[in-house]
Amino acid sequence: MTYCKISLKTVPKASKYRDYQDAAFKSLFGSLKVNPVLELSRPAFKQASVRYTTGLSISGVQQKLSLGITKSHQLEPVTTNGQYILKPSPEEFPNAAENEHTAMLTGHILGIRTADCGLISFADDELAYITRRFDRPDNVKKIHQEGLVQGFDMPSDRKYDKSYEAAGALINAMTGGKQTVVLEYIHRIMHAYLVGNDDMHLKNTSLQKFPNNTTALYDQLTPNYDCLFAGAFENQNEVGFLALDLLDNGFSAQYEHHGYYTGHDFVELAGKLGIPAKPIQSFVKNIERKLPQLIDMIHHSYMRDEQKVHAGEIIVDRLRTLSIGV
Ligand SMILES: Nc1ncnc2c1ncn2[C@@H]1O[C@H](COP(=O)(O)OP(=O)(O)O)[C@@H](O)[C@H]1O
Ligand SMILES: [Mg+2]
Repeated sequence: MTYCKISLKTVPKASKYRDYQDAAFKSLFGSLKVNPVLELSRPAFKQASVRYTTGLSISGVQQKLSLGITKSHQLEPVTTNGQYILKPSPEEFPNAAENEHTAMLTGHILGIRTADCGLISFADDELAYITRRFDRPDNVKKIHQEGLVQGFDMPSDRKYDKSYEAAGALINAMTGGKQTVVLEYIHRIMHAYLVGNDDMHLKNTSLQKFPNNTTALYDQLTPNYDCLFAGAFENQNEVGFLALDLLDNGFSAQYEHHGYYTGHDFVELAGKLGIPAKPIQSFVKNIERKLPQLIDMIHHSYMRDEQKVHAGEIIVDRLRTLSIGV
């Protein structure tokens, strides 16, 4: 059985590519004609990423490349108007690409709006993570978006310097009081906690405006991005809880009692941001219901076997803690 490198679902026999479902492929690349294999090898990428990413707005921590599709349907590095971002596994974290792809899809299963993403191959077969840019839907007009560290008017190296509670309050202010957006943010924090993604800092959440919005307010979060099972690397067995403190005034009595976050803490966070407990409880119930699907998907993923086991264990353990106090 082969699983799709985009959807992680079974690939039917009659598909164009052995390891991609036609529908998933078309939705990510627009056409079945696109070649899912890069002409670049992994070592050549190292050279190219220096050349093509200078001054790029997508700079983050990891090396990446901006890609476009040529007239002959080849994915190729470009300096302007890239429609895709390519993130290969860093040398010190093998299989990070497969890990990120799987972690992103766990969010999708839980109803989190997620950047379109998948895995493609370098010429020498190594897989790389690819995501379609959500700030350029038609490749002409750029959608305005802003990360939370900018929203706080702080320099980017202060991306760990606020709590999620403060970030939630900022989202409330930046959207003119849209509680649905604040709730979506809390769900994303809960998802990060669930999969052991301990790097969801202020630069890994952004807000965007709809194209016709000329006001200073933002409409919604961008689709979710930059998510990892941080504990599922052999050189990283100790996974932290969360990148930021959950609450402004230190840990709750329940945290002090258990020594880790529980559902109670997320209900408390919601309360501080004016959101009732109910949608927090429903989100936990939703995870409980979808646990078999999440575990199945992890096992169909392209991570290595040990990574799959770690990732499954993290989810089961974190779900146990999320179910306390909700
Ligand atoms: N699909 C996407 N479309 C548009 N912008 C994106 C997308 N994914 C990430 N970005 C932007 O690029 C930046 C770097 O990407 P990210 O995945 O966070 O990489 P890193 O692991 O290096 O931090 C993000 O902070 C975000 O602003
Ligand atoms: Mg990032």
